[in-house]
Amino acid sequence: MTAQKLVVRGGVRLKGEVQVSGGKNAALPLLAATLLASGRSQLRNLPQVGDVATMSALLRHLGGDVSGSRVTVVDTSAADGREAPYPLVRAMRASVLVLGPLLARHGEARVPLPGGCVIGPRPIDEHCRGLTALGAEIALEGGVIVAHVPGQRLRGASHRFAVTTVTGTETLMMAAALARGRTTLENAAREPEIEELARVLNKMGARISGAGTATIAIDGVSALHPVEHTVLPDRIEAGTLMLAAAVTRGDVLVRGCETSLVEAVSEKLRDAGVEITDGSDGVRVRARQTLRPTDVTTRPHPGFPTDLAPLFTVVMALAKGQSVLTESVFERRFHHVPELQRMGADIVVDGRTAVVHGTARLSGAPVVATDVRAAAALLLAGLAAEGTTEVSQATALDRGYEGLDKKLRALGADLRRAPAPEMIA
Ligand code: EPU
Repeated sequence: MTAQKLVVRGGVRLKGEVQVSGGKNAALPLLAATLLASGRSQLRNLPQVGDVATMSALLRHLGGDVSGSRVTVVDTSAADGREAPYPLVRAMRASVLVLGPLLARHGEARVPLPGGCVIGPRPIDEHCRGLTALGAEIALEGGVIVAHVPGQRLRGASHRFAVTTVTGTETLMMAAALARGRTTLENAAREPEIEELARVLNKMGARISGAGTATIAIDGVSALHPVEHTVLPDRIEAGTLMLAAAVTRGDVLVRGCETSLVEAVSEKLRDAGVEITDGSDGVRVRARQTLRPTDVTTRPHPGFPTDLAPLFTVVMALAKGQSVLTESVFERRFHHVPELQRMGADIVVDGRTAVVHGTARLSGAPVVATDVRAAAALLLAGLAAEGTTEVSQATALDRGYEGLDKKLRALGADLRRAPAPEMIA
């Protein structure tokens, strides 16, 4: 892909209405879950983002047929592959989501161990521990997780996660759906995407209860069938648009995302002096006064989402006074901070804490994005800054956001993409 930069001229107050796309982190496990049944599943409202394309490529590699965009048909009738290729796992850690379905369906799987990533080491030991509790035997051979199930079928078990993990919980739910007997998962993740996966698996014939709480019970069944489903909206995209409205002192109606999905970000924006009105047609965000300092600690759902932490530091950078952001989920969420500093932000990072002294104004500068959420944070900073900001490695944004540039332009933002020279590390 050609390198691109985003050229943003700041200072425009965003105004108008915007529709949220389908959720990336909801879509990825649903695509993986289609492997649990043979036949044609239909998923509507899949976001057209890089990670969904990577998961589709993985399903094709496993023998599936994936076609269509708005309505995506996944035909798994000939999907009998058991091995995920390393380039796809390296491109996207969430490729590991096929491990549970492959083991449950075929009794064996080979999935390369994803390495660390920009935001931290991100191990998958919890996924493996859980699958072992269900009877899988797992070994690491040449960087590849080689898993098999003696006797072909996993067996239900009680399992407590030592660490709350979203994709770990999803892996275990999918694996246990076809296991013999009952599985109980404790200290399970409670994200809306977990509830969404349970809804879809139940539509496929699974028997899952308790999703959305810390204890999930799964009564295994012997077979599942294909499904038709419309994917949940993207709460992180909704939060991104809300924060974009806030930092530009705008007035934006964010449509298509239930207010309960963005509760934590609404609460913090209210603390920062932003008016949030929940309505049946969406969430209206109006920022009419100077932003107030607010402290935020990220937590698993229903706490403040880690994926919005880099973006919230932009709110803090523009508030009048000192704010503290504590990142409790990942080790390295502050890669964008040196870039924000180039724009005039006053931020001191100590481990997982960032102390931000609001400066009331940022000024445009060339900056570099390291990952999808850092890219979004720098884009927001550019929208709020005086002058022009150029965000290099802008394609990082496209892994997780569908048409964000276009949506922001429709709200009045002055931004465009331009080719950029390749960065050399
Ligand atoms: N962890 C372990 N061992 C494991 C699994 C996780 O120690 O086996 C730790 C992680 O290192 C981390 C914490 O547990 O410190 C939580 O990680 P989690 O496993 O919940 O993250 P994930 O499932 O890999 C999903 C999202 C992320 C989002 C996190 C947290 C998907 C595909 N990805 O990742 O989304 O940040 O949950 O909410 O659902 C993004 O969209 O940009 C993104 C990174």
